[in-house]
Amino acid sequence: MSELFIGLMSGTSMDAIDAVLVDFQEKTLRLIATHSQTISNELRNDLIRLCTPGDNEINRMSELDIKIGALFAKTANTLIKKANINIAKIKAIGSHGQTIRHQPNGKFPFTLQIGDPNVIAVKTGITTIADFRRRDMALGGQGAPLAPTFHNDIFRNPRENRIILNLGGIANITYLPADLNQPIIGFDTGPANTLLDNWISQQLGKSYDENGHWGASGNINIALLTLLLSDPYFTHPAPKSTGREYFNLAWLKKYLSILAIELTPTDIQATLCELTAKSIANAIQLVAKDSTILVCGGGLKNKYLLDRLKANCGNSSVYPTDNLGVPAQWMEAIAFAWFAQQTLNKKPSNLPSVTGATQTTILGGVYFA
Ligand SMILES: Nc1ncnc2c1ncn2[C@@H]1O[C@H](COP(=O)(O)OP(=O)(O)O)[C@@H](O)[C@H]1O
Ligand SMILES: [Mg+2]
Repeated sequence: MSELFIGLMSGTSMDAIDAVLVDFQEKTLRLIATHSQTISNELRNDLIRLCTPGDNEINRMSELDIKIGALFAKTANTLIKKANINIAKIKAIGSHGQTIRHQPNGKFPFTLQIGDPNVIAVKTGITTIADFRRRDMALGGQGAPLAPTFHNDIFRNPRENRIILNLGGIANITYLPADLNQPIIGFDTGPANTLLDNWISQQLGKSYDENGHWGASGNINIALLTLLLSDPYFTHPAPKSTGREYFNLAWLKKYLSILAIELTPTDIQATLCELTAKSIANAIQLVAKDSTILVCGGGLKNKYLLDRLKANCGNSSVYPTDNLGVPAQWMEAIAFAWFAQQTLNKKPSNLPSVTGATQTTILGGVYFA
């Protein structure tokens, strides 16, 4: 049986909206078309401003909900045009939405993704599934990470332990033990690109460090690295998840002022890169030393980051997920096409061993065409 789904993803980096058209067959998936929609600087800045508390949030959020919803719809429509496919053949769109706040701890934990699915359903004429995270949270979970369920479905292998590592704004890992009786472990390890992007943006006005060239030209400062790694997030036991409301420039500045020694911006970039590599390596060391590490997400294009990751991961093999047939750049968008299929087929798709929810559940809300 063949079923076509669209996945729409915009992560914490807010670099672009990634869209995929996927054909799910029995045990395989085929990527039919892809499209990456840039987000204008103005929209991106408005979204980033909503990630931390500020004035007049309800109006600003509600307008952006519609605005980014319309951009999600436009992205899907462009993808459909590219694929030259009749929309009647597409079962549904899975839209992750744009996270503007993720606070999984505290008395009233919540997570908020915007991009009105009503707008997407109307403007595309396709059933849209969204709001994937909150049902898991209602069951006491973190609502994140969700991708481990998808990773388990397509990457679990009884012959080797595998780690799937996603280098988005935040880094998350999924541990898929070869022993099928062992539970899957997954959590956000901390920052991947978010601090690197924020720092280069503030210092040089660039949105990211192309291939990691700037970071590679600096020297890692061990005193700063040690201080940053002492942040309680890194040693907090799983389940845990985080976002740019925690790992941001205010977080970095707090530690820089404690350190109270003058460092060059370049050395700080090199140290932030090492922070990402080391915190990931430490997390992997904790859950599974002897795993093949399969990497996806935009951070894969940061050569310096990848070199430091390999250096910190010792003897483990590190490959892009492309080696297993899933292009690293599209992994997250493909995951949300898969989640849409799960929801439409009334199948549960959270993993309590990962999120901490009390039970498995069907995720998301369905907005019929
Ligand atoms: N050529 C590149 N060199 C260095 N970093 C890159 C490059 N291309 C993308 N990136 C990084 O990847 C990030 C986007 O990764 P992505 O997986 O889309 O994250 P998210 O899921 O948070 O949107 C960018 O913000 C940037 O930091
Ligand atoms: Mg992205």
